[in-house]
Amino acid sequence: MLIAQLSDFHVTASGTAYGRAETTQALERAVAHVKALVPAADAVVVTGDVADAGQPEAYAEAARILGGLDVPLWIVPGNHDQRERLREAFPDHEYMAAGPVGDSLCFVEDRFALRLVGLDTLLPGRHGGGLDKRELLWLEAVLGDGKPSVIFMHHPPFPVGIGNMDAEAFVMADELEAVISRAPNVLRICCGHMHRPVMRSFGGTMVCIAPSVAMQLALDLTLEAPSQFMLEPAGLALHLYEPLAGRPPELVTHFGLIPGGGHSFPGPYPFADVVSPV
Ligand SMILES: [Fe+2]
Repeated sequence: MLIAQLSDFHVTASGTAYGRAETTQALERAVAHVKALVPAADAVVVTGDVADAGQPEAYAEAARILGGLDVPLWIVPGNHDQRERLREAFPDHEYMAAGPVGDSLCFVEDRFALRLVGLDTLLPGRHGGGLDKRELLWLEAVLGDGKPSVIFMHHPPFPVGIGNMDAEAFVMADELEAVISRAPNVLRICCGHMHRPVMRSFGGTMVCIAPSVAMQLALDLTLEAPSQFMLEPAGLALHLYEPLAGRPPELVTHFGLIPGGGHSFPGPYPFADVVSPV
């Protein structure tokens, strides 16, 4: 199966975020990009920051654009999101109406050979994220049967070396890491929030952070790094779970770029005279 991960749209009522990022158009391009994938995606998972500032119009616009997808869609919220707005905008998402853990928008989906798990790391009013004991108990129970699983959550549960993004530590990070370390069936944790492709190990599995479909964080690896974005190319993550070369299925993650927004990528061109020099 192929999972397309889209993250950090930051759609606004005006269509533009922070005066410069045409986020509505960026989401439209991302959806068109996913619809044109070959092979086609079997699922799309959104890892948060659907809207930028909580406007109902922004959620309605995002829902309209995402409605153009012809594959199943799951969403976890980011720190810019509001749970009630998501519920209103996506009334057909049953886990939003009645999630498995209280008010949070966690989900588990078992229709595929690879289980999809969504964790709601939104802490209203805070930039950073986290989980609570109920969510961790639920997660441990879900993972207990050993079925291969992939977790989607907005906030990565660790600092990444970009000062402003590391200012608020992930709540219950050590407890989450302990749960993950007891569940070797977690093949990947897929996050957003950083608006950049980033990877790190955590609890014995790999965490892959997807770029934003709209705007990328300035790559400033200092403690003083301010909160700034770049209009670098948009991107997405593609998670492929297939038996390759006769081997049992493994989860392989690819990062791709989405053309548009002032960026074009000439090609493809064939490699000519490919050899191994001797
Ligand atoms: Fe974001």
